[in-house]
Amino acid sequence: MLVSGKSYRTIWLKPDDESVVQIIDQVKLPWRFEIVDLRTVNDAATAIRDMWVRGAGLIGATAGYGMYLAALEAGRAADFRASLEASARLLIQTRPTAVNLAWAVNRQLAALRGCPAADDAVKVAKEMACIIANEDAAACRSIGQHGLGLIRQIAANKKGGRVNVLTHCNAGWLAFVDHGSATSPVYAAHDSGIPVHVWVDETRPRNQGARLTAWELAQHGVPHTVIADNTGGHLMQHGMVDLVITGADRVTRCGDVANKIGTYLKALAARDNDVPFYVALPSSTLDWSLRDGVREIPIEQRDAAEVTHMEGILEDGGVRDMRIIPPASPAANYAFDVTPARLVTGLITERGICAATEEGLLGLYPERA
Ligand code: MRU
Repeated sequence: MLVSGKSYRTIWLKPDDESVVQIIDQVKLPWRFEIVDLRTVNDAATAIRDMWVRGAGLIGATAGYGMYLAALEAGRAADFRASLEASARLLIQTRPTAVNLAWAVNRQLAALRGCPAADDAVKVAKEMACIIANEDAAACRSIGQHGLGLIRQIAANKKGGRVNVLTHCNAGWLAFVDHGSATSPVYAAHDSGIPVHVWVDETRPRNQGARLTAWELAQHGVPHTVIADNTGGHLMQHGMVDLVITGADRVTRCGDVANKIGTYLKALAARDNDVPFYVALPSSTLDWSLRDGVREIPIEQRDAAEVTHMEGILEDGGVRDMRIIPPASPAANYAFDVTPARLVTGLITERGICAATEEGLLGLYPERA
């Protein structure tokens, strides 16, 4: 996607030294656009844990490239296979909720299982990391095309009037390798001339909506408005939201959706107001081993400082972090919640749109029956 008119992905191999992985440091956005080098598996683990990269698809892609860096390091270790397995454990422990992380690491381990020598392993891991990244971008592109049909239909019903989409958090291209999941249909609609406008939930506590989704949409010239997290219900009551599309960090085989904290409340408001609520995801986000998302999906709890403090930019360009609640008050920071499948109108995947049910998903992925 575009940054100041130049095309970027969120992760890539450094062109003049392919033993280095490069990422956009998302902690610095939207104040500064900085590219960071990842040289070791530890760098990749830090990038995921400290959210220089975040979002289910990009976490998975970074884990894929992290295993490539691990293979480079394993070649210098006394026990090549033990080193690879330790790196896999390190990466998997960085964040618990997005299933793409373990999915990518396990895919690498399966590919590496057949490699007798370190040299082969490096080649295989590099190829697999690029495959995971390319597949992620292709899946998101395809999600955009399937979701475009929904937006086109609403635009036709509104006789060409502006289509208002509400989204939560950042499930845009920054959360993947390219295109995004929830925003991919929006970009496709905008690019094909459909008048579309996005209500962007700020998404406390880390403000991924206000900071990242808003920045992305602005870079691409998509009309949008940032709203406080509690605004969506009011907008829906007044007919100002035609469609909600969110991303997902993990979806069970029965269609329960783990996504950024606050998603569940948007789904409840959407149901009460008959607003269609869609979830966009590549199949790497499906956890076929789970059924009941509320009971079974691990929910990450992050540092309370993300709730007690907020970062902003001063007029002079200085970036400051400041406390926003009284020093004596404790804070809790649940990073995700689960929206039960019954509140989800449909799932937009790279293979098409289906009901948020086991039957619906198996209709698109019969090999998982
Ligand atoms: O904590 P984050 O920023 O990694 O959270 C993930 C998200 O960005 C959202 O939950 C998103 O909607 C799904 S990830 C594509």
